[in-house]
Amino acid sequence: MHILNNNPLPRLDAAPDVREQLLPYCRLQPGEIWEDERYGHRVGCLDATNDQAVQDMMAGQRAQLAIHDPPYNLAVFELRSISEFIDWCEKWVLISDAVLDSNASLCIWLGADQRDGFQPLPEFMLMMRNKSFSSRSFITMRNQRGYGTQKNWMAVRQELLYYIKGSPTFNVDAEYTDIPKILKGYYKKVNGKITDNLERSRADTIRAGNVWVDIQQVFYRMDENVSGCYAQKPLKCIDRIIRASSNPHDLVIDFFAHSGTTLLAAEILKRKCFTTELDPIYAEITIRRLERFRLTGRLGWQNGHPFQEELPNIETGGVAQVAVETIPVQQSLF
Ligand SMILES: C[S@@+](CC[C@H](N)C(=O)[O-])C[C@H]1O[C@@H](n2cnc3c(N)ncnc32)[C@H](O)[C@@H]1O
Repeated sequence: MHILNNNPLPRLDAAPDVREQLLPYCRLQPGEIWEDERYGHRVGCLDATNDQAVQDMMAGQRAQLAIHDPPYNLAVFELRSISEFIDWCEKWVLISDAVLDSNASLCIWLGADQRDGFQPLPEFMLMMRNKSFSSRSFITMRNQRGYGTQKNWMAVRQELLYYIKGSPTFNVDAEYTDIPKILKGYYKKVNGKITDNLERSRADTIRAGNVWVDIQQVFYRMDENVSGCYAQKPLKCIDRIIRASSNPHDLVIDFFAHSGTTLLAAEILKRKCFTTELDPIYAEITIRRLERFRLTGRLGWQNGHPFQEELPNIETGGVAQVAVETIPVQQSLF
């Protein structure tokens, strides 16, 4: 029988005492870059808005794909005014532009606060209008579980903005889900015979399109779960973006590493990844997640944690160590 390891870290953004215990085990100081000897990935404990630091990490290399998942300017993060937040976003967008190839894709996860005029999504979209990127798609990913009241529609969406410059790769095969096509009913005569749409279609499964309904949110029973992280994206959605918008051996960048999902997906798909993270603890978790995968094939720690070797009995200082789902912060607010 498989016994679920029950030793999670609490959410690290809400546990300063736990952070203090973890910091001595973090190999990167702010400003430092780790380079992977095997495949050349890089993890920088860097500020994504520091042009020079990012350029140093890139060392003249250009990326074919950027996948950024910034903090969304909601109260639980350090809430800034909308214009401050957009100015901050503009900095890392311009830096991305400078380090992306002339044919490249830029994917950005962003929230819309329904209790505050849907900021910062519309302001972000407007800011992007005068940049060198063209808009390509506005994707909504549906979470299985929602957060809401009886007086509003349940909030189950996460937004992904897809921009390009030049003429980048788009591998349409990546778009096919494993959801079977079931809706018959569009009839057409082919060679004198009436056929329905299912008979005529080239694939048995539906394309994800710009509404993704087939992605399981990360929670503590899943192998990929990284406890302590509060905004982990499922590997499946990052895998889809990477397969669609890059080719093997391309370079993928992610300025907001957190649990290291993009780095791990890039490793699995044989792309190279350069990623930055401001916080030395998440930078360490990102590196450890890759190392653990290589050693064990595991995608995360399920309900254990990345520092369990050194700190099997972590002092939580009153923060309950309970097996909770990793609920993205932006969703838990609604
Ligand atoms: C929403 S999380 C990213 C989640 C990630 N996609 C994943 O799947 O784990 C945002 C991360 O950005 C980091 N961050 C915030 N400001 C930053 C900055 N200026 N430069 C680099 N990282 C930053 C935060 O510490 C946090 O870990």
